[in-house]
Amino acid sequence: MIPARNAPGPRALVPFVSVADMMRLVHHIGLRPMIRALADRIEDDFRRWEKFDKSPRVPAHSAEGVVELMPTTDGTTYGFKFVNGHPGNARDGLQTVTAFGMLADMATGYPVLLSEMTLLTALRTAAMSALAARWLAPPTTTMAIIGTGAQSEFQALAFAEICGLAEVRLSDIDPGAVAKCARNLAGTGLRVIPCASPEEAILGAGIITTVTADKRRATILSDNMVGPGVHLNAVGGDCPGKTELAPGILQRAAIFTEFTPQTRIEGEIQQLAPDHPVTELWQVITGRAPGRTAPAQITLFDSVGFAIEDFAALAYVRDEALKAGTFTPLDLVADPDDPRDLYGMLMRSGPLPA
Ligand SMILES: NC(=O)c1ccc[n+]([C@@H]2O[C@H](COP(=O)([O-])OP(=O)(O)OC[C@H]3O[C@@H](n4cnc5c(N)ncnc54)[C@H](O)[C@@H]3O)[C@@H](O)[C@H]2O)c1
Repeated sequence: MIPARNAPGPRALVPFVSVADMMRLVHHIGLRPMIRALADRIEDDFRRWEKFDKSPRVPAHSAEGVVELMPTTDGTTYGFKFVNGHPGNARDGLQTVTAFGMLADMATGYPVLLSEMTLLTALRTAAMSALAARWLAPPTTTMAIIGTGAQSEFQALAFAEICGLAEVRLSDIDPGAVAKCARNLAGTGLRVIPCASPEEAILGAGIITTVTADKRRATILSDNMVGPGVHLNAVGGDCPGKTELAPGILQRAAIFTEFTPQTRIEGEIQQLAPDHPVTELWQVITGRAPGRTAPAQITLFDSVGFAIEDFAALAYVRDEALKAGTFTPLDLVADPDDPRDLYGMLMRSGPLPA
């Protein structure tokens, strides 16, 4: 017989934000206000960039995709995200990207939050893209999105909230994905233009977001498709051998990264020489480097996703979920009355089989 469990003490319980809890939190706060708040949190943490431990994320590659750990700490709190990227998953009815993450107290090492991060990654990636565009993009109200999968609506709404986007032009190799995205964005206040090709989608767009999933060096944008003055938000090239832009575009663009050592491995700039000049976005945000310097300049945010963004997102979710009560206490930490008597705690929980 499995013995009855003693009730866990308060130190055993860690707030767990499930997918249902996260959805309740988004409904409570509102999607656009939450994206804005996440962008502000990320910007705040980028302003204290030097306080964080930084390293490229730790990947495990397979023929189908990648599983990655993304750790960081500011010295007070530790955070990590577990995330995968499997572009073929959709064929089996699975998502390309799923994630969860946690925060811990550096003073005791005890976890203080465990959270779903599949939804949160979509929210923070969109917030990050729009934050970068706030610093780099030309004045524009029109954006093209190429790749209208799981991330796409979040991207559109982040740019509407943070950059004043009014029109979004959609393209995907799968017309069903375009129809899905257009349907989801109807009634959001955005003018939504489904397009038959990427060439049609980029017409008149001051910002081009590429957010496709394909495990190869793809050419979503060829060199002749990108004219002067455009801001490129390249989200889908985020793994070795997985890129979206023709190298000629990179040679003409001013390139902005999150954490350059990671982006050199994973981003569009893996196609360039290892010393090709780039600027980290935190430097622009803190005034140490210029952003866009001329109207005709092509700016490129070579997004791969960095641990500090997830740390900021988890810290925000912890604050808001505790306030709103959108969490479930999880019995995660063994908590013996005498911390050295873990064995005794196990034995007192009931008799073992002979
Ligand atoms: N940079 C980041 O921080 C970050 C965060 C999350 C996801 N991503 C990446 O963003 C990409 C999209 O993620 P998702 O969750 O939306 O994936 P998804 O599989 O839901 O959607 C991808 C879409 O791209 C389309 N597509 C594939 N090849 C295309 C092509 N050649 N032209 C046009 N469309 C094409 C697919 O039909 C699909 O609709 C992935 O590559 C993922 O790894 C990056």
